Amino acid sequence: MKKQRSDKDYKNIGSRAKPFVHEEAIEIQPYGMIVKLPIALSEKVCAKSVENLNQVLADTMTLRDLYKKHHWQVAGHTFYQLHLLFDKHFGEQSELVDTIAERIQLLGGISLAMAADVAETTMIPRPPRGREEVPVQISRLLHAHEVILLEARSMAKQASEDGDDGTNDLLVSNVIRTNELQVWFLAEHLVDVPLVRAD
Ligand SMILES: [Fe+2]
Repeated sequence: MKKQRSDKDYKNIGSRAKPFVHEEAIEIQPYGMIVKLPIALSEKVCAKSVENLNQVLADTMTLRDLYKKHHWQVAGHTFYQLHLLFDKHFGEQSELVDTIAERIQLLGGISLAMAADVAETTMIPRPPRGREEVPVQISRLLHAHEVILLEARSMAKQASEDGDDGTNDLLVSNVIRTNELQVWFLAEHLVDVPLVRAD
């Protein structure tokens, strides 16, 4: 049978239900360090893939946020259609963000996470805070996609040469294919064809 705690016991140890708040300690793994897992890849290969994936992660997070900005701020005759399309692409980019970040962790690295760190790392130009016309919104998105596609193709090639098939597959099957498809859906909006009467 369990012994009842006395008032004196509680005075010594305090209540067990008391939450420990405001805890502080040094990091368990600093950014840039690889903590190797047994996945049959060398630390050097993991470090290179982590570095590349953090770049594509920062750019994917920026593109994801650019889609939400445009989802909220879009205006004009195609408001409803683009409002929905931008949010669909936002969702697909969000899935990519999680897939890339979790691969960085399984490679023993640390994925970028916070907006300030993403802003320092991304290669995608910062848009203004204000609203812009639809063709400008779409042009910005297309440029962001191209930045990602360009880097993802060279990173995929490097991962393949290094024998990191998982990273190569993620970049080709997820990043490249998703971005290429989204480019098609965007670019067709910039074709100047008549709505009612043929030219
Ligand atoms: Fe919404």
